[in-house]
Amino acid sequence: MCGIIGYIGNNSAAPILLDGLRRLEYRGYDSAGVAVLSPDGQIQIRKRIGRISNLTELLHQSPVEGVTGISHTRWATHGGVTDDNAHPHFDQSGRLSLVHNGVIENYASLRDQLLAQGHVFRSQTDTEVLAHLVGRAYDSLPAPHSKARLLEALRSALRQVVGTYGIVILHEDVPETLVGARRGSPLVLGIGKGENFFASDVSAIVAHTREAVYLKDYDLVALSKDQFEITSLLGGASGFEVSKVEFTEQDVSRGEYPHYMLKEIFEQPASIRDAMRGRLSREDATAILGGLQMTSAELRAIDRVILSGCGTASHAALCGEYILEHLAHLPCEVEFASEFRYRNLPMTRDSLVFCISQSGETADTLAALRESKRKGHRTLGICNNVASTIARESDGGVYMHAGPEIGVAATKTFTSQVTILTLIGLLLGRIRHLSTSDGLRILDELEALPDKVAKILTLNSHIQSIARKYADATAMMFLGRQFNYPIALEGALKMKEISYIHASGHPSAELKHGVIALITPELPSIFIAPEDTVFDKNLSNIEEVRARKGPVIAIGTEGCSKLEKVADDVIFIPKCPEFLSPILTSIPLQLLAYHTAVQRGCDVDKPRNLAKSVTVE
Ligand code: AGP
Ligand code: GLU
Repeated sequence: MCGIIGYIGNNSAAPILLDGLRRLEYRGYDSAGVAVLSPDGQIQIRKRIGRISNLTELLHQSPVEGVTGISHTRWATHGGVTDDNAHPHFDQSGRLSLVHNGVIENYASLRDQLLAQGHVFRSQTDTEVLAHLVGRAYDSLPAPHSKARLLEALRSALRQVVGTYGIVILHEDVPETLVGARRGSPLVLGIGKGENFFASDVSAIVAHTREAVYLKDYDLVALSKDQFEITSLLGGASGFEVSKVEFTEQDVSRGEYPHYMLKEIFEQPASIRDAMRGRLSREDATAILGGLQMTSAELRAIDRVILSGCGTASHAALCGEYILEHLAHLPCEVEFASEFRYRNLPMTRDSLVFCISQSGETADTLAALRESKRKGHRTLGICNNVASTIARESDGGVYMHAGPEIGVAATKTFTSQVTILTLIGLLLGRIRHLSTSDGLRILDELEALPDKVAKILTLNSHIQSIARKYADATAMMFLGRQFNYPIALEGALKMKEISYIHASGHPSAELKHGVIALITPELPSIFIAPEDTVFDKNLSNIEEVRARKGPVIAIGTEGCSKLEKVADDVIFIPKCPEFLSPILTSIPLQLLAYHTAVQRGCDVDKPRNLAKSVTVE
């Protein structure tokens, strides 16, 4: 959550900061602000609640000049959504300004101390306390004004802080330098020619440079327009590597699509192919996943798999549970990362833990990973963001290679996660009981997936017309069995988060144990009912809803006439094996949620109260 961009160079800072903020807006959009060092040596701050467009308007009315600046788009944790609480924040002297991503857990006691010393606060945020703390430390150190003094002040302030931070500071006394640090929240350096950047993620700076340094926890940086210095908050130098950003400005643009979410839904034939690229071996009739960094003997020794993640990633994990049990006959358990980290789950010595996360920065998932590693379990990541903390801290893993996902609602990364879990199932299965011909059959089916997904996408306008028909509903129910039970949960989450229609997902059979009480002619039920081993059971559940006059939308297999007879609306997917069906059935539900939200006038890419990456507990 929250986007930071800092600029130091020869060009006017404000337009660069605004453009960067627009690209980071998916990370938080409660308020936004900039601080620019003006030619007279004073810091000018402009900030406003609401979207970046509000800040743009403010800057239009009241421009800021200067070639050095910092900026922020906020996802509020401490203090309401007000102009005063928007970042950047000044220190007591008004000469230092700071932007922050994260949470200062002990801010209340620090604030009390500062208040007792006469500090005056203008906001209710934890961040302003940090600004005052650094400013106080700076003012208490001996002259002269220098970069070293500012770094020392930051070091000493951060020693008093409990919590997480990605921070960037601009100080009037040190005009040629921006200073930054990270612990727990992402921060990247963009290395340009005669200009340099700080950013929460490279999408903000990729239009200017593709050379980046992904900072590590406890890195402390002094950045000028043509050099940078990285030391460790713990003392001494800190190693770093300049990496080439994998994607281009084009990849983070919306192109012809009205929303990122729609673009990303339509990218799925390619993203699913990319998740499998170079990983299917016909020779050995299995998947090759070198990133796991495990020998066949080690993979063979696994006696249990734990899959952990949050939100959509937890639904992918649940799909993984069904898939791994089916393909590899391995006991498998799914835990919300937020529960796993505090739960003392009894685990066998040879349990293997996977932490699944698109961003690789989700605080709960990262904490689950650390707890699992602390207990000595081999812990692997399934991440999209290659430079992320989870990717770095795990013992190995599998990258999604889905390209940047900007829409706050996860779509293409969900199908990539499920595809990867299928590859893991194939690999573990082939080490155990699956024969060569079983393996080859599975490979054939995997290779056929992208074309089947493309075929489903041709149903876009059919799905749009169904969405229009039900867009006024106040609640919806999503139902599925076995492999498609997790898809009922995911379908309901997509609908809730972008259209604000209350939706719940259930195993179809659970209907009669309670939720059937909700069925009325006004409540649509969405049944995920492809022709599989539980199809007839699903059909009976559909009849139960029909008997109570509930409208039914069904996702079924092409040519299934039985479904057409009982459902009000049907969306067909191509035939595929049962264990692969979640990858296909999830797609019409993404489109259904998308078109429903558009019909209701919702802000699809930036739903209310949400942020793309949740870096607080
Ligand atoms: C997905 O649509 C959500 N916005 C959210 O549930 C998300 O999947 C969750 O926060 C996990 O994010 P991650 O994959 O980056 O860890
Ligand atoms: N905790 C800070 C605040 O509430 C920063 C939140 C963020 O990361 O956007 O302002």
